[in-house]
Amino acid sequence: MTLPENRAPFDGMAPSANVGPKLDEPAPLFTARTTLGTCALEDYRGQWVVLFSHPADFTPVCTSEFIAFQNALPEFEALNCALIGLSVDSVYSHIAWLESIEAKFDVKITFPVIEDVSMAVSTAYGMIHERSSSTATVRSVFIIDPNGILKALTHYPLTVGRSVNELLRLLKGLQLSERESVAIPAEWQPGGEVLYNAPCLFNDAIKAHDGQAWYFRKVANDTGEQDEVTS
Ligand code: BEZ
Repeated sequence: MTLPENRAPFDGMAPSANVGPKLDEPAPLFTARTTLGTCALEDYRGQWVVLFSHPADFTPVCTSEFIAFQNALPEFEALNCALIGLSVDSVYSHIAWLESIEAKFDVKITFPVIEDVSMAVSTAYGMIHERSSSTATVRSVFIIDPNGILKALTHYPLTVGRSVNELLRLLKGLQLSERESVAIPAEWQPGGEVLYNAPCLFNDAIKAHDGQAWYFRKVANDTGEQDEVTS
């Protein structure tokens, strides 16, 4: 069996202790140099943040992701959400790559991209997975709420690009579930039915619920939001 380049054979050792932040805990604070100047996570209090890492500048999948994120930026902004990119490349490399994306694809990247040459941010967030690559960040996404609390995270491998539409769905689901105290079912799309949280009390559970199972009660999302599903 051939192992992908950069990948060490499994040596039976426990996984790295650096697993990054946990859901519902404060996201690690940082101050970092970006393509748009210095940025600190605390500057974003009061806003949602999608912090995402990519393995390397000037690579095909990353380029496709940056174009997809930029095209969706107005939708994130309409949800009071800022985008911040990150890789371990230098800010000079980021600038050259973004300039090339604009020249070749006519897409101007307007969100900040962190240079993380020291790997301080990527280490704090657990974006470097040793068996995937020795130094590059994997395709991580961290959704941070307006109080600086981590609400969702995903890690994708080097070989598969992320779905920005799924990230928008996730963000919208997080916001709706928080606003309305409801739960979001599988395959939900904005405007679709949501679920009541299951009751914890016997007397609440045994009430008549129009034939619906007490632990699975759908309800219309009547917040007036009929967000468009982007394709
Ligand atoms: C890419 O974005 O295409 C890529 C980046 C790092 C390793 C492999 C692929």
